[in-house]
Amino acid sequence: MSLDPHAEQHARILIVDFGSQVTQLIARRLRESGVYCEIHPFNRIGDDFLGEFAPRAIILSGGPASVKTDQSPRAPKAIFDLGVPILGICYGEQTICAQLGGNVETSDHREFGRAMIDIVKESPLFDGVWTEGSRHQVWMSHGDRVNAIPEGFTVIAKSDGAPFAAIADEARKIYGVQFHPEVVHTPDGAALLKNFTHKIAGLSGDWTMAAFRDEAIVLIRKQVGGARVICGLSGGVDSSVAAVLIHEAIAEQLTCVFVDTGLMRAGEGEEVVRLFRDSYNIPLIHVQAEELFLKKLASVDDPEQKRKIIGATFIDVFEEEAGKIKGAAFLAQGTLYPDVIESVSFSGGPSATIKSHHNVGGLPERMNLKLVEPLRELFKDEVRALGRELGLPDHFVGRHPFPGPGLAIRIPGDVTKEKADILRKADAIYLDEIRTAGLYDEIWQAFAVLLPVRTVGVMGDERTYDYVLALRAVTSTDGMTADYYPFPHDFLGRCATRIINEVRGVNRVVYDVTSKPPGTIEWE
Ligand code: XMP
Repeated sequence: MSLDPHAEQHARILIVDFGSQVTQLIARRLRESGVYCEIHPFNRIGDDFLGEFAPRAIILSGGPASVKTDQSPRAPKAIFDLGVPILGICYGEQTICAQLGGNVETSDHREFGRAMIDIVKESPLFDGVWTEGSRHQVWMSHGDRVNAIPEGFTVIAKSDGAPFAAIADEARKIYGVQFHPEVVHTPDGAALLKNFTHKIAGLSGDWTMAAFRDEAIVLIRKQVGGARVICGLSGGVDSSVAAVLIHEAIAEQLTCVFVDTGLMRAGEGEEVVRLFRDSYNIPLIHVQAEELFLKKLASVDDPEQKRKIIGATFIDVFEEEAGKIKGAAFLAQGTLYPDVIESVSFSGGPSATIKSHHNVGGLPERMNLKLVEPLRELFKDEVRALGRELGLPDHFVGRHPFPGPGLAIRIPGDVTKEKADILRKADAIYLDEIRTAGLYDEIWQAFAVLLPVRTVGVMGDERTYDYVLALRAVTSTDGMTADYYPFPHDFLGRCATRIINEVRGVNRVVYDVTSKPPGTIEWE
């Protein structure tokens, strides 16, 4: 392996992944306190890797396996010889015990969800957060539990279900917690992790967006040299932040291509052009392709078919435009860290699967372009912080996620220009009301859906026969699960009145109260 470029510049922590659903949250909590860290699967950590990565501390994640079963995963033995601080979380604690001479049992007293723990001994892990004799809420999720700790360890916290809820070998700086400090349901969890990284491992928290930006600029210049770079702008946050960052590094060597599908929200196409071409002076090719996209989508009502058509048309248009840029050697992409983390696979044996980012449909290979991916070490919230650091407007970087196929998957049934225009207007009013009410940032995604159903209404003395519009708003942390947002009824009533009064073609508005699962966020 070779180190990610940013890793070289920072003291770093290794997170060994045993497949927990919440491993990424460990990394996020660490990054929030200014610590650079990377997640690697337990079965990909060899001696060479450890030597090169040179972690200043190691965190062992939770995981779905039971240490009691044959062939359950173990931490690489070598990590215990490095002499660096180690923190095991849940399965991580159990494997420490199993590997260092303690014991784990399958317990009848399983704990899932909120639990209370009692602090029985002071420890640097609890410093300034929890004191001996106090009781605190944590989040547990375990069936097995430790029933004998290895030599050198002492118990520092216990719960009803876990007599060894937290253990420490203070001399070797090895810690284990049965609960999950990385989730928000352990309210003091972030402070405990910070104690581990800052006080126990002695890191300073030098991972800031200002530092990242300066380093990234140097690295992009080094990678690209004097070559030309093409960047496909989607109007979304990731590609925009990547483009502005690359432009800071190499100025006129960057050309952006913005394919306007006609399926964006109200005013967004114009905003991209204004921002990039006019405010940032970034060379921008603006391809007006609404007509082409709508022609290809005519009479198609299957959602997956729509996605395929939009993807393929996008590639055709992009490739044609990119081909006109002479001497281009690189394609820039807004790939993020969650796209590149290798995930642990238990069902598929020891090999780990790598999620591949849907880059522009094989274009880099076909056009012989190398990739520039300056955001590949960042989480979404870090990309937003970097965008602000680069001077992108707050309302732009704070935008809700928007799907690649755009409004086409918010118009169940066939897509026409008339329907897209109606939806755009209604969606803009809905979002305007949400912003006015100060709720935009509390919501993960909010949007309108134009249903392929007409119903009877009455406006003035006239009978109407128009479309039904559904409003959707959800809270979520990653889009994988979501809860519908509980708007007050008067807010929903205000949106319905405005939309029906101001948008010709809609005479009925409904609110979607389905969570995910069982629903999905989008309707298609
Ligand atoms: P669902 O509807 O699956 O959405 O609950 C989860 C998240 O993914 C977004 N989404 C998409 N994004 N192309 C995208 O780029 C797609 O085809 C697509 N479908 C859903 C959705 O907006 C939500 O954020």
